Amino acid sequence: MTATTQPAAPDTTNDREPLLVVDDWKTYFKTAGGLLRAVDGVSLRVDAGSTIGLVGESGSGKTILSRSILGLVRSRRKVEPGGTITYDGVVINKLSPKERRRYWGKDMAMVFQNPMTSLNPVLTIGRQLTEVLTLHLGMSKALARARAVELLESVGIPEPKKRADEFPHQLSGGMRQRVTIAIALSCNPRLLLADEPTTALDVTVQAQILDLLDEQQSARDMTMILVTHDLGVVAGRTDTVAVMYAGKIVEIAPTKTLFTETRHPYAEALMRSIPTMDAPNHTRLFTIPGRPAQLTGEPKGCRFAPRCSYAQEKCLTEQPPLVAPERPDHSFACWFPVGTKPGQEALERNLSAGQTAAGTSMSLMTVLGA
Ligand SMILES: Nc1ncnc2c1ncn2[C@@H]1O[C@H](COP(=O)(O)OP(=O)(O)OP(=O)(O)O)[C@@H](O)[C@H]1O
Ligand SMILES: [Mg+2]
Repeated sequence: MTATTQPAAPDTTNDREPLLVVDDWKTYFKTAGGLLRAVDGVSLRVDAGSTIGLVGESGSGKTILSRSILGLVRSRRKVEPGGTITYDGVVINKLSPKERRRYWGKDMAMVFQNPMTSLNPVLTIGRQLTEVLTLHLGMSKALARARAVELLESVGIPEPKKRADEFPHQLSGGMRQRVTIAIALSCNPRLLLADEPTTALDVTVQAQILDLLDEQQSARDMTMILVTHDLGVVAGRTDTVAVMYAGKIVEIAPTKTLFTETRHPYAEALMRSIPTMDAPNHTRLFTIPGRPAQLTGEPKGCRFAPRCSYAQEKCLTEQPPLVAPERPDHSFACWFPVGTKPGQEALERNLSAGQTAAGTSMSLMTVLGA
């Protein structure tokens, strides 16, 4: 049993080598309201060939963290006051922008939320793919064209030869996202960051795109970071889940453990907002009360405390460290964790004082379909 008081990269307990290690990473922005802590000391270990889900509500820092890993946060107001990002044994955050770019494509690639903004509207689909292949892999035009058609076929685009000559606006949203996935996969990246790849799509197409990413991940033994605000998306699709709140990881565990032994009240609240098949008709979905945290200013206590049913005085004044008191691969940052005696007592105290924000716990097994 290990208990860490420092935010060291959690041990995800298997014998695989980590492909990526993020250690105490911070990305801040200078804003009129003060220093905004978009990513505030995140540690993450991503093992080669695994899939990790990065979950949190809007503004929790998921995109900035993902972009920081690729070195893609471009802002004059950006400050990176500390931490390291190590990819395949190399500390990449110390590299020059030119050296960093060498990792794009073949090592790391990203699928963005909105395919319309990541595709060039004035170039054909085929041209966008062949450009990547000629530039990064040095393929001849003819070879790149043949490979582009193959790639389109592999991501489920019907009539790929014909589609290659079409422009992005001629394709449906789902097809466009398939094209961006084909572009991201074109150089056989070892690490794929998929940032809310299905948010702009309707539900049935969402499932198809997630299945496609799953297929490609296992076929290529690729490592994947799947970013989403929806905890339902990561169930059954990831090995590990990291829950982010206000720029920090508040809980990280193997996926099943996170669902069955949830400890952080924010993770629990996210679970309660997942729709379940067995809920009676017209059941209103749970929403987390209060507003997302202010990211400016030095955090005094736990950033989630104002919205938390378990919060006590201590939570408002002392920041809980990310610790693993139960098992080495399960870390959480909470003084009164869900499902523990201190947590239960805190909840009961608040309930009897009529102070709960988020309500009582639920049967988490229903979420897993167990
Ligand atoms: N260039 C910037 N300048 C200042 N603040 C920024 C900048 N880019 C992002 N932020 C802020 O950083 C915080 C984290 O943003 P981020 O885009 O990572 O959130 P997210 O978790 O991806 O949210 P969403 O689910 O909406 O995509 C937000 O408060 C955002 O407003
Ligand atoms: Mg985002």
